[in-house]
Amino acid sequence: MLNDLNPQPADKILELMQMFRDDPRAGKIDLGVGVYRNAAGITPVMRAVKAAEKRLWEEQQTKAYTGLAGDPAYAETLSALILGDARDESRLAAIATPGGTGAIRQALELIRIASPGATVWLSAPTWPNHPSIIRFLKMNLAEYRYFDDATRDVDFAGMMDDLARVKAGDVVLLHGCCHNPTGANLTPDQWEEVVALLERTGAIPFIDIAYQGFGDGLDEDAAATRLVASRLPEVLIAASCSKNFGIYRERAGLLMAIAPDSTTRPVTQGTLNFLNRQNYSFPPDHGARVVSMILDDDALRADWQAELEEMRQGMLDLREQLAAELRQRTNSERFDFIARHRGMFSRIGASPEQVRHMREKHGIYMVGDSRINIAGLNAETVPLLAEAIMDAGV
Ligand code: LMR
Repeated sequence: MLNDLNPQPADKILELMQMFRDDPRAGKIDLGVGVYRNAAGITPVMRAVKAAEKRLWEEQQTKAYTGLAGDPAYAETLSALILGDARDESRLAAIATPGGTGAIRQALELIRIASPGATVWLSAPTWPNHPSIIRFLKMNLAEYRYFDDATRDVDFAGMMDDLARVKAGDVVLLHGCCHNPTGANLTPDQWEEVVALLERTGAIPFIDIAYQGFGDGLDEDAAATRLVASRLPEVLIAASCSKNFGIYRERAGLLMAIAPDSTTRPVTQGTLNFLNRQNYSFPPDHGARVVSMILDDDALRADWQAELEEMRQGMLDLREQLAAELRQRTNSERFDFIARHRGMFSRIGASPEQVRHMREKHGIYMVGDSRINIAGLNAETVPLLAEAIMDAGV
């Protein structure tokens, strides 16, 4: 049996992580995988997470199974953080999942059960694992234009043109904030237009929100998701706590399915529970419980928000610094888009050869499509990147 296996396609982001590890050069700079790092290059355990884990260790009496949907307090507190006033409990079904990827996978499986022929529309480009999982599940996939290579901004006209072709019942995957890999995001007015188009066409929005708090702030980053949730009859939302709580390896995600009405909610919830049971039985609990402890405790929550805000501000400062360095070197505003982009990533618009040049000559690792992780920089390495960008002729 195992003789019949063929090698699987390598994931570009994970492949790059390995290349970086194998590079013996001391000054190498990792701008690859989307993991936050502070100025010292460390991905810290956040203070509130440490405190909650300590309390959990002292107070937790059992490690017996939770419910199939996970701890109800987790779904309740995290859905409130994301949906705010747009949260309508009577229509909300939710399950804890292993990370944001688990939520995406379960959402796609839900779509496949409910509507096997549905086409899932992805932004071009998107996070590579989106199309990978869709193809793995043998679902229909289509792309809508999203990024304008010339302006490094959203190609909104192209996006709306393409989305005009979606059919009722198709699913449109949208990044709630901090678009991965481009860093280019819709304005509030553009979100309004997208919502109107979804209302008109009867397509179902599927929001991936993995970076809430990394762009313009916790509420600001959730505004688009809240708008969609308050206006459309059916909405799927895959959320991750990996980045904003810094608990990557604990795998804390949440899938929310907003049902059209309260009578459809129980069967939606039952199907989500069923999907958890089929795929891994009970979802992981440690990270989820840490999250709900933080969100339910005023002091822990305030400290978490303060630390998250420092991280967000640090990334914005690095964006400003890099844009300024490049403004000075090019004597132009050509790279100002870096300061306008939001979240952890920017696609800087280098060719694959230029990306290779920066890796081989300067030891700077970015994803092949020229996505850089801003949090991989610090005040000292920003000028080195600016120099490499110039040297590569970007
Ligand atoms: C990324 O885009 O780098 C992150 O979401 C990590 C991953 O799993 O790819």
